[in-house]
Amino acid sequence: YGHLAPVVAFDGPGGSGKGTLSRLVAARLGWHLLDSGALYRLVAVVAAREGWDPEKPADVDRAAAAAAALDVAFPVAGDGSDAAVLLAGENVTAVIRDEAVARLASGFAAHPPVRAALLELQRRLRREPGLVADGRDMGTVVFPDAELKLYVTASPDERARRRYEQLSLSGGGANIDQIYWDIVERDARDQARTHSPMKPAADAVEVDTTGEDVEQTLARVFGLLSERGLA
Ligand code: DC
Repeated sequence: YGHLAPVVAFDGPGGSGKGTLSRLVAARLGWHLLDSGALYRLVAVVAAREGWDPEKPADVDRAAAAAAALDVAFPVAGDGSDAAVLLAGENVTAVIRDEAVARLASGFAAHPPVRAALLELQRRLRREPGLVADGRDMGTVVFPDAELKLYVTASPDERARRRYEQLSLSGGGANIDQIYWDIVERDARDQARTHSPMKPAADAVEVDTTGEDVEQTLARVFGLLSERGLA
């Protein structure tokens, strides 16, 4: 007893490749997946529809209540592809990838009541045989005892290009310069916030994916997993 399922934490900025890596590692290990960014994005979708503003304390409280009431699961597709995300039965998989939604998610994510509302939900997803957790504060706050913590980065240019490709694939009209500035601005806010800022845990391994393809980075990640007896 007292045993908790193992966790591998992937933290880092948007477009670093951590989302793709997390999905593939979860699929190949047969572990559960937590896309914590999707939780913040779902809160943002509700907020956008209700017209809530992250600068207004009353709206932050409303968003925290909505966050506490979220009922979500992250089924891992066997091939590691993107799982569908449903909000009250509605397929919002494409909607949550919108940069406007990301910006609003980042705005509400700066507020402790919203983060607190999502904390237990995230920890409940830690189940056998293990959890791959993707986010900004997985290794620092949500799962400080994770068996392996990775901090995934890539140059801003490369991250913008990846986001651009992601958005083009999902059919959204995308402008690469706009995406670049959106990413730089959102990272700055996620890094600068007082509560659970985006930063590497003291014991995280930094993985720079610039110029690498997914399989190259995956090979490195699986090297680290097997060093720790996780794969
Ligand atoms: O990983 P993502 O782009 O889907 O995340 C969207 C926003 O959600 C991100 O800009 C900040 C917030 N977020 C967070 O604060 N903490 C997390 N663990 C994950 C995301």
